[in-house]
Amino acid sequence: QVLDMELEAIEKGGFDHFMLKEIFEQPRSIADCLRGRLKADEGYLKLGGIREYANRLENADRIIIVACGTSWHAGMVAEYLFEEFCRIPVEVEYASEFRYRNPVIKEGDVVIAISQSGETADTMAAIELAKSKGAIIFGVCNVVGSSISRITHEGAYTHAGPEIGVASTKAFTAQLTVLAMMALQVAFKRGTLPLTQYNQMLIELETIPSKVEKALQLNDQVKYISELFKDARNFLYLGRGYNFPVALEGALKLKEISYIHAEGYPAAEMKHGPIALIDEEMPVVFIATRDKSYEKIVSNIQEVRARKGRVIAIVTEGDTVIPEMAEFVIEVPATHEALMPLVSVIPLQLLSYHIAVMRGCNVDQPRNLAKSVTVE
Ligand code: G6P
Repeated sequence: QVLDMELEAIEKGGFDHFMLKEIFEQPRSIADCLRGRLKADEGYLKLGGIREYANRLENADRIIIVACGTSWHAGMVAEYLFEEFCRIPVEVEYASEFRYRNPVIKEGDVVIAISQSGETADTMAAIELAKSKGAIIFGVCNVVGSSISRITHEGAYTHAGPEIGVASTKAFTAQLTVLAMMALQVAFKRGTLPLTQYNQMLIELETIPSKVEKALQLNDQVKYISELFKDARNFLYLGRGYNFPVALEGALKLKEISYIHAEGYPAAEMKHGPIALIDEEMPVVFIATRDKSYEKIVSNIQEVRARKGRVIAIVTEGDTVIPEMAEFVIEVPATHEALMPLVSVIPLQLLSYHIAVMRGCNVDQPRNLAKSVTVE
């Protein structure tokens, strides 16, 4: 027993929980994911696991993404990436819905299945269904040799290393990294992204581990904010564009481990419902980094402030506008908006972690949840 406890302490590498260890591992896990695949100065990008079927992906008329949970959120980011860079229409599906609704799948359709464990029952069933109708399936899995990695035609591992915490953190950012590489590789082949922009994206992608490292330095500030909000009964998370899926993921993290009710929403949809919930007790987390929708989200923040909502805003370093209106601002390093989810999610992971610890929750093994859901 004593030995087991000591062993666990060693495995946690000095951190109190696996989740925190895994959050802090992200600069390295993202770098591991990029290793050997990306050399920005040479303009080199190659996912070795996508070979024989690469042209099917490049020439796809549409892409269907199937996943569950956090992996589904990574799929949502991928939708924006593939549509923007590759001009291929994308549908992101909950595997559990997709499999039972007699979906329209044509011979040669392309499916990307995303799964950390590679064992999720619904995702597996969705793959089998699509495969039986002649679709080509690409897997994005973390666990090497997992069931999903074996039943897909080809794929790319995320190489994040074992993830023990039930709430997914480093696997998510590794999924985003792989999906960004996939989209860029396809865009290059299709010629849908000007070469200068393509090269710029490669350079930007290579800087992500150091930007994540910098975002992790926000830990103390996030902990301080957590203390002030730990007793809240509800939270709203709002974002637009690439940060909309980040809002969903931030809300999911909080629900999963702190058992606080949280909703993620596209910021502009707020006026069609959630705005009714806002009062002086409602914390609203805005993911409001500098991007195409910045001006719009600033107005959304004002709408919340006008109703006395308590605003915590994730902003780009150096922002001078939002600090004037938000109660708390958390500044993350700037990057291309398509890669921002890799950085903007970090403070949200930390926020959920600290709140859960302060509420005395079992962070690594939250009630009712399983790391991998192998039954329906
Ligand atoms: C469970 C886990 C989540 C995970 C989801 C999908 O609900 O608790 O963290 O996102 O399954 O799992 P997968 O292994 O397919 O990514």
